Amino acid sequence: MRAAAGLIAVAALAVLLTPHPAMAQSAITGLCDKDPELAEISASNPAVAQCCSQFDALLANIDAVLAQGVTALVPVMSCTLLPPVELSQECYQDLLSAGANCYYETNVMIQFFNETGLLGTAVDASKTGEVSNETVASLPTEAEFKEQALAYLPTAKSNLKAMTGSDTMNPICCNTIGKLIEDKCACEEKPITFVQSRLDKVGMKIEDWIEFGKEVVSGMGCDSAQDLQAYPACTKP
Ligand SMILES: *[C@@H]1O[C@H](CO)[C@@H](O)[C@H](O)[C@H]1NC(C)=O
Ligand SMILES: *[C@@H]1O[C@H](CO)[C@@H](O)[C@H](O)[C@H]1NC(C)=O
Repeated sequence: MRAAAGLIAVAALAVLLTPHPAMAQSAITGLCDKDPELAEISASNPAVAQCCSQFDALLANIDAVLAQGVTALVPVMSCTLLPPVELSQECYQDLLSAGANCYYETNVMIQFFNETGLLGTAVDASKTGEVSNETVASLPTEAEFKEQALAYLPTAKSNLKAMTGSDTMNPICCNTIGKLIEDKCACEEKPITFVQSRLDKVGMKIEDWIEFGKEVVSGMGCDSAQDLQAYPACTKP
């Protein structure tokens, strides 16, 4: 679990792993067609259009992505440099580094989504384009989700130990999370505005996840997320 490892990375994963049906709906292939802002930009920017088709291809083959883990996302990571996201080069490098160094930690997070059934729901939704009403009714609320995730921490630690021999986050992963926060990557206006405007549609606010993110990261034995801030609530260095 590393919910604070760059809200941008999490947002990208959220499209794949989201527990929320409305987000799952938007994850169905045709990303640019369904998103008016992306549709407009991609019409005049071939690189953005190319990113949209790469992303659609990933979602169409979601089982392969899950089998491969975060490395499957590397080809689309550079898309975060393009409009409308326009992540800085520095934060893009930080993100790649976190992805590469937090491999097992990410697997533990995917296991959590799998064991709660949320992963299956998101995968089904991305395949069929539909989420049944019973499924919607069974999804946890934000408060329930946070409670479930925190209660899962001991399991997450023992799962991590089974993979790495240690029940705490590896120090390099912890450092890369620290670097993302030190570089104020979640304070960059365009990327966060982009993510937040999509989350608005499902009533999620990034600011409501900051404390939770810190708690999860510190629960995994890493202290480097304590200064996490997100746009617009960022203090000057
Ligand atoms: C999810 O759990 C099932 C059953 O334990 C397992 O077969 C599957 O590989 C898991 N999927 C992922 C992506 O971890
Ligand atoms: C599911 O819920 C929607 C919205 O409340 C409703 O319009 C629809 O009829 C429901 N579908 C079924 C199969 O119950």
